[in-house]
Amino acid sequence: MPRISDADATHSEGLFIGLISGTSADAIDAALVRITPHGCQMLAQHTPPYDDALHDAVVALCNPGPDEITRLGALDQQLGHDFANAALALMAQAGVSAQDIIAIGSHGQTVRHMPELSCTLQIGNADVIATRTGITTISDFRSRDMALGGQGAPLVPRFHQACLSRAGVRRAVLNLGGIANVTLLEGEALIGGFDTGPASVLMDYWCRKHTGERFDRDGAWAQRGQMIPALLAHWLRTPYLALPAPKSTGRELFNGAWLETQLTQCEAAAEARPEDIQATLLHFTARTIADALQDFAPAELLVCGGGAANGALMAALNTAMPDTQVSPTCDHGVPADMVEACAFAWLAWAHLNGVPGNAPQVTGASRDAVLGALHPA
Ligand SMILES: Nc1ncnc2c1ncn2[C@@H]1O[C@H](COP(=O)(O)OP(=O)(O)O)[C@@H](O)[C@H]1O
Ligand SMILES: [Mg+2]
Repeated sequence: MPRISDADATHSEGLFIGLISGTSADAIDAALVRITPHGCQMLAQHTPPYDDALHDAVVALCNPGPDEITRLGALDQQLGHDFANAALALMAQAGVSAQDIIAIGSHGQTVRHMPELSCTLQIGNADVIATRTGITTISDFRSRDMALGGQGAPLVPRFHQACLSRAGVRRAVLNLGGIANVTLLEGEALIGGFDTGPASVLMDYWCRKHTGERFDRDGAWAQRGQMIPALLAHWLRTPYLALPAPKSTGRELFNGAWLETQLTQCEAAAEARPEDIQATLLHFTARTIADALQDFAPAELLVCGGGAANGALMAALNTAMPDTQVSPTCDHGVPADMVEACAFAWLAWAHLNGVPGNAPQVTGASRDAVLGALHPA
């Protein structure tokens, strides 16, 4: 962990809350975390789900459409209140009050990520969160990295380095959210990190379209299908996959329209059953991750994010990476579904202690920087 100067000692350890809703737009992840300069420990978690209407409203804002600014303004307020409610419920559950919490780190909800324009937009109004909770709230973590020429993503690698690295071990940390991102750790050194491509975002879309369920629990539906090699090969030619790092992506590229277009372009898809497409999407996720990690060749792969609960996906990853030991991050002290929320609690700690939150070797920024904007209680 980085060193803290004496001047900052009042913030150097204590309780922080991390809040995020990721690309999947499935739920708010709220984590209460005790952070010290030597490590962190999650004490409580709360995950209020998005209902279908909220999920659909977020997804609709992720691509161009009519009257975006009005919809964005309304959703920014609504999510500000929803994030505040998540923090307040977490505190009630844990029996702590606002005075016990040093700060909230709120990632918010990404509705647009366009690194080619140095533009990224997260909503969930942080002044609403600070006002409603009475807790200093740090938000807008990605802008400074982009101002320094970086991708603004991924931002979790510094936290992975601080809490999940191990001396002498070549490790990758894999986050299976809507998009998959990896962090490359050579012992305690952070070597790199980037988005590999989709994790569950396309599977979620396809599952909802054909089964009405928001996601394919444990990959059970995918397992009833047959992977289609020609379709997998077609998807593997997607230009993003061959780009060198630094790189990051989102729903701007990998979305339902992308998948539907791809399916019309590949003859092998014509005869396929929906569950065959789902099986192929699952293998697409596993294969793109394995390909992205081939050169680094980690001895260990620590997996987090909602996709770590997808047994079929974990099995496909194991098969695709036979020389790597694959395990969930809960085996290493951080609950798999809460790693990102803990990371934003850590980034709030880093902000208050003057510790850089980005990593130029990950995002491509010209230098490291303290991230986030502070909204006083
Ligand atoms: N039990 C499960 N079986 C299969 N997939 C799951 C399960 N639990 C969560 N997921 C997947 O994880 C996704 C949410 O993961 P999360 O880490 O919150 O992603 P994000 O950061 O993009 O919001 C869900 O949309 C779903 O696809
Ligand atoms: Mg989520």
